[in-house]
Amino acid sequence: MLYSVIVILLIFNGYNDARKLIGTHIILRHGERTPSYLYPTDPNDSHFWPNGLGQLTIRGRLEHVTLGQYIRERYSDLLNSTYVASEITIRSSDYDRTLMSAYSNLVGLYPSTKNFELPESFLHSNTWPESLPWQPIPVHTVPKPIDHLMAVSSCGQYEELVEILRKSSRIQRLNDEFRDFFTFLEKHTNQSIADIFIAWDIADTILIEAIYNVAPAWVTPSILRQLRQISDLCFYHLLYSYRINRLRGGPLIRDILNNIEKITTNNEQGRKAKLYFGHDITISAILAFLDVNYVHQPPFASGLFFDLYQQDDNSYAIQLEYLNKTNSQDTQIITLPECLNAMCPLERFIELYEEKLPGDMDKECKSAKTKRTYSRIHHVSFVSES
Ligand SMILES: *[C@@H]1O[C@H](CO)[C@@H](O)[C@H](O)[C@H]1NC(C)=O
Ligand SMILES: *[C@@H]1O[C@H](CO)[C@@H](O)[C@H](O)[C@H]1NC(C)=O
Ligand SMILES: *[C@@H]1O[C@H](CO)[C@@H](O)[C@H](O)[C@H]1NC(C)=O
Ligand SMILES: *[C@@H]1O[C@H](CO)[C@@H](O)[C@H](O)[C@H]1NC(C)=O
Repeated sequence: MLYSVIVILLIFNGYNDARKLIGTHIILRHGERTPSYLYPTDPNDSHFWPNGLGQLTIRGRLEHVTLGQYIRERYSDLLNSTYVASEITIRSSDYDRTLMSAYSNLVGLYPSTKNFELPESFLHSNTWPESLPWQPIPVHTVPKPIDHLMAVSSCGQYEELVEILRKSSRIQRLNDEFRDFFTFLEKHTNQSIADIFIAWDIADTILIEAIYNVAPAWVTPSILRQLRQISDLCFYHLLYSYRINRLRGGPLIRDILNNIEKITTNNEQGRKAKLYFGHDITISAILAFLDVNYVHQPPFASGLFFDLYQQDDNSYAIQLEYLNKTNSQDTQIITLPECLNAMCPLERFIELYEEKLPGDMDKECKSAKTKRTYSRIHHVSFVSES
């Protein structure tokens, strides 16, 4: 009886207390891009794609302008309407498409003209409006080989774990399930498909070709569905491994917790907002690290919001929301499995995940350098995040 009263009180507390938003950490995927890999029989070569492979399209830029406008609206009480250097830090992986997504997003977040609205007609178009109000806002990055935060660029241990995963019964079962489909794909793409991770590369490219109506004729709606399924499954199963999602998601969670510590101790280096521009895998890794991933590919210009609240008893809590749709404002509140409700007490959050956080990444990444037995997976490899 007493226990249920306490539980009810706690639940009541979580949802109804006066609480103040004091900080946010937003992890974003870049907008729509061109394919980053071409299969051998691809009807279009890399010159077909504006700016070449792996580049942000104009639609992709506009997706981030609108997302920036949403972030402006959502955090209008937290962030000054003009750029204040001590309030916000923006970090991107060192890819053209993430850097350009960041700059586009900031057009929406810090418009140089008041009341700027992107005309609705531009939302889905692939044309850049001529007069977007823009002002320069700094975006930070570090070279890929030393970036452990936004990408695992040079991490022998990660590479080794992926190799082990590819030989695991978990992945072998998926390979068996799709074996006939792989044979079909091999016939049409002339790409040999050792396992589902290779099919993933083909899926990624064809799913984008389909947006531009340039997928080959053998890609029927049913084939497209199976390719989407392969892509969704790969994001889930790659990051399912505790040791893999720890290496890929852990450094970002640590960075967020470091900033939260600074905010809550009034350290002047703390930032009210940190924006991180990364990849679909970045988002999957965080969801998996927190044990809330599900079978899907994080869409273009999707984002995870870690909002930090101060409650009226002066304790702190984190609420996690996932904007899992392009050009949408419909965020999904994610309740962490071990938290009583969506508002997860900071202490509890730390208690749950502290042990899992990786230490010094240069050490964590050291490996015995096993010999690679499978061909490189383009989609998750170190040269091409997606
Ligand atoms: C691109 O692929 C489409 C569909 O297969 C084809 O019709 C078109 O001619 C190709 N264009 C170029 C420039 O390769
Ligand atoms: C916040 O923005 C206003 C104008 O909107 C400006 O006057 C003020 O100086 C800004 N605050 C800080 C801390 O810079
Ligand atoms: C690719 O095409 C060549 C020439 O037709 C053929 O010899 C080879 O087996 C094909 N490879 C795959 C993986 O289908
Ligand atoms: C987004 O989240 C909602 C609610 O959990 C779910 O129904 C939907 O399928 C998700 N969409 C994607 C693309 O993950």
